[in-house]
Amino acid sequence: MAAAVAGALVGLTAGMVSASVSMYGIIKEERAGSREEALKYREQAEQLAGEKEELEQELDKERAVQDNAGVLAEDPQAWSLVLVNEDHPLDGSYVPESLTDIGEGRQVDGRIAADLEQMMQDGAAAGMSMYVTSAYRSYDRQVEIFNTSVLDRMAQGMTPLEAYQDTSTQVALPGTSEHATGLAVDIISTHYDELDERQGDTSEQQWLMAHCWEYGFILRYPPDKADITGIIYEPWHYRYVGKEAAKEITEQGLTLEEYLGA
Ligand code: DAL
Ligand code: ZN
Repeated sequence: MAAAVAGALVGLTAGMVSASVSMYGIIKEERAGSREEALKYREQAEQLAGEKEELEQELDKERAVQDNAGVLAEDPQAWSLVLVNEDHPLDGSYVPESLTDIGEGRQVDGRIAADLEQMMQDGAAAGMSMYVTSAYRSYDRQVEIFNTSVLDRMAQGMTPLEAYQDTSTQVALPGTSEHATGLAVDIISTHYDELDERQGDTSEQQWLMAHCWEYGFILRYPPDKADITGIIYEPWHYRYVGKEAAKEITEQGLTLEEYLGA
């Protein structure tokens, strides 16, 4: 009886064991199946999220090109990407809402002030001696600068047309200057204060060109890109585009026009 019970028990136990082993296998297989499916769903969701982000980026870029004043004033994402050039003028009445003093009577759009300050501080800590010589400029100030440049050239013997054409490769026509956005700054070395190509050879510009993207800035008018930007090489003119865009633009050696597909 005891043996029978034991046998039965053993038999029962063995049966139970084998039953539970096969059950475990089924459960395991099922679990493995659902995990694979879950993984697949997750991958699909991630891919869709990536595509959504890319589409949003493309839309931001389109908006930044088409409605620059509206985007500058209101768009929480695309404001730093606005394109202002001869083909994409900025409304002459645009004034940045949050103009912020950066010293020496200069102002920038408040949204770039902290990154600009950090860049200047880090540059100084790295031994660079440089300062912002021009920042936000109103439409009227741009008119003055443009006209002075034309008159200077005429005084040097150019015809009015030559003076106008030569000026417009170096000074943006009023309404087409990035300085009116409050997102552009001209920075020069205290060791060399001329605004010409040799400014680019100073250690200050070399440092800025290497590091400005870390703070969201790009060298806006690089050498050999005048046919795209419409402006000659300006080693002193830096434009805030945000850290993500600045990294991509710098890594890929693009102009803002190329990055925006404009
Ligand atoms: N010098 C740059 C192009 C400006 O006038 O905005
Ligand atoms: Zn400039």
